[in-house]
Amino acid sequence: MLVLGLESSCDESSVAIVGDRQGIIAQKIHSQFDAHRPYGGVVPEIAARHHIEIMPMLVQQVLQESGFSLSKFNAIAATAGPGLLGGLMVSSVMAKAMALSAGIPFLAINHLEAHALTPRLVTHTPQVNSSSTSKPLQFPYLLLLISGGHCQIVCVNGVGNYQTLATTLDDAVGEAFDKTAKLLGLGFPGGPFVEKAAQKSQNPHRFSLPRPMVGNKAGGKKPSGNFSFSGLKAAVRRQVEDFPRDENGRLYPEDSYDMALAFELAVVDIMINRLEFALNPKHHPLKAYQALVVAGGVGSNQRLRNALVQFAHQRNLDFIAPPPMLCADNAAMIAWAGIERLSIKPDLKDDFAFKARPRWPLAEMTELI
Ligand code: KG4
Ligand code: ZN
Repeated sequence: MLVLGLESSCDESSVAIVGDRQGIIAQKIHSQFDAHRPYGGVVPEIAARHHIEIMPMLVQQVLQESGFSLSKFNAIAATAGPGLLGGLMVSSVMAKAMALSAGIPFLAINHLEAHALTPRLVTHTPQVNSSSTSKPLQFPYLLLLISGGHCQIVCVNGVGNYQTLATTLDDAVGEAFDKTAKLLGLGFPGGPFVEKAAQKSQNPHRFSLPRPMVGNKAGGKKPSGNFSFSGLKAAVRRQVEDFPRDENGRLYPEDSYDMALAFELAVVDIMINRLEFALNPKHHPLKAYQALVVAGGVGSNQRLRNALVQFAHQRNLDFIAPPPMLCADNAAMIAWAGIERLSIKPDLKDDFAFKARPRWPLAEMTELI
């Protein structure tokens, strides 16, 4: 089975060709960081304009590279939500037009489902799995989905069958990384810059930051497994405001390095604590989880990955993390989600009238029968 996938829900334009057995046959990813950097965040209108210019070229490139024509595909899959509406419309309209002209099905893919199923792309296709000894990942598994727009712990029971065990009450963890980077005068997008700065710190104990929601039984409140990052963000801001600055108004490097590390350590503690909560049978019935998996851009963070490996090991769980290129937004995961859906329902096709959905929680997905 062969699927052409299109992704343009945020600031990555990407097109990929994926086969059920061959894995990723071709993939192009164009990140728009340079266009958004002057604004310190993604500007939806600019993102949509770039997708319109770039996506057709990427389609051309993967078709040329693979030598395939449109009629070769079993379907064309596009991210139809959640995400920025302008960008979602670009992929949806292009995929519908190509599917219509080639007489093949159009598939509207939920971006979060695509992130959630990526670990199976990694373990099911030998090419992507070349460096790993993992066996094909089976359901159910516990997913930590951490990106710029989402922060969730999800029990993945099957394709289309997701149970959200925890979510964020305010910001996504990626947003907190991006905000911290901005406060520290580091680059955009913030995650990789915070990570690099933290690696240079020699003082893990210099700053203390809160771990919101961790052990939140105070005041007789019912314990909650959710996340919250606004308090952590505010604590970084308050402390950074008091940092000395040089004659150009810039922070001194050591201060940013030490604060970046304090922030990363707080995030790691929060993640581990929330996973402990989710796996505590007092809070959720324990399932026969096949693995702990991480997905989403923040899943590229090496300190966090190391902590997750150790946590999974202590719990006798396999740990699966897609390579960083497949943790961040990419079209291979969209095509793979299409393959997973078609494998269950070979005659599946979505309506050409399908409307892009800026909001599309995983909980609203239904199992395909
Ligand atoms: O999954 P993704 O590419 O896009 C969304 O769907 O949001 O995630 C992007 C987020 C950004 O907030 C970025 O700063 C963060 O992932 N990120 C990282 C790292 N690489 C990307 N956060 C921490 N450490 C990293 N190495
Ligand atoms: Zn994403």
